[in-house]
Amino acid sequence: MNLQTEPGKISEAVEFLHSRLKSPIANTAVVLGSGLGYFAEQITVIDKIDNQEIPHYPPSTVVGHAGKIVNGRIAGAPLIAIQGRTHLYEGRSLSEITFYVEILARLGIQYLVLTNAAGGIDANLKPGNFVLLTDYLNFTQIALTPDDNSQTESPFSDGLINLARQIARQNRIDLPEGIYCWTLGPSFETHAEIKAVRKLGAAVVGMSTAPEAVVARRLGMQVLGISLVTNFAAGISDTPITHEEVQITADKSKKAYSILMEQIIVRLAKNDRAHSIE
Ligand code: HPA
Repeated sequence: MNLQTEPGKISEAVEFLHSRLKSPIANTAVVLGSGLGYFAEQITVIDKIDNQEIPHYPPSTVVGHAGKIVNGRIAGAPLIAIQGRTHLYEGRSLSEITFYVEILARLGIQYLVLTNAAGGIDANLKPGNFVLLTDYLNFTQIALTPDDNSQTESPFSDGLINLARQIARQNRIDLPEGIYCWTLGPSFETHAEIKAVRKLGAAVVGMSTAPEAVVARRLGMQVLGISLVTNFAAGISDTPITHEEVQITADKSKKAYSILMEQIIVRLAKNDRAHSIE
């Protein structure tokens, strides 16, 4: 599958962004997964750009839900926030869903924080928990690495994992760690599939993040992945989880999440290439 957009198209998109974003541009970008809108509300917006204005940006598949790129600050620290990621199950290609990653790389982003909503597989996880991602399991049969198989290590940065651990500890935030199982979706998994991937070591399951993480890593960024557990994965709990419960648990965790994200971004903003976290 084609992983790369033509360089000329990326250049035009990047040129457009340079003309629209007030500089200097942050060194850190955050991708806001579903259920994490609260964090977006905390951002002081400097510029907000509809993705559809950006040349060659893949067209939105969901009417009225165009994604946005926000240039702003959180607790004084500059960041770029990506709102409204797209998924392969929407009929997109790999190069379309990772288009924004290529743009970010060309804008000079060094640190990419990928967040997502996920189903909890590990027995200790409950809706509302956050999980620090250490690696991923590819349950889609779609190759993310080029034919030469040059990138087999986890795309998640050890340095950033250590930083997140440290910040969580300092703030007494529970931050279990685990492996993300990447599925194609849009259907949820069968009970048998969840049993199988649990045995294989996955802690959470979701339909995003892995492609973006792999491409970002390949383009030289350091990547951090954090899942918000929004539900028990299929067959993990007898009681079907209701939307209301998910909302309540997400609300309870939003304060801890904001502290964690804010402090991570503040720390990263103080770094530059000369002071790489790794
Ligand atoms: N499975 C896959 N993706 C998900 C889930 C799930 O249970 N919850 C949120 N995203």
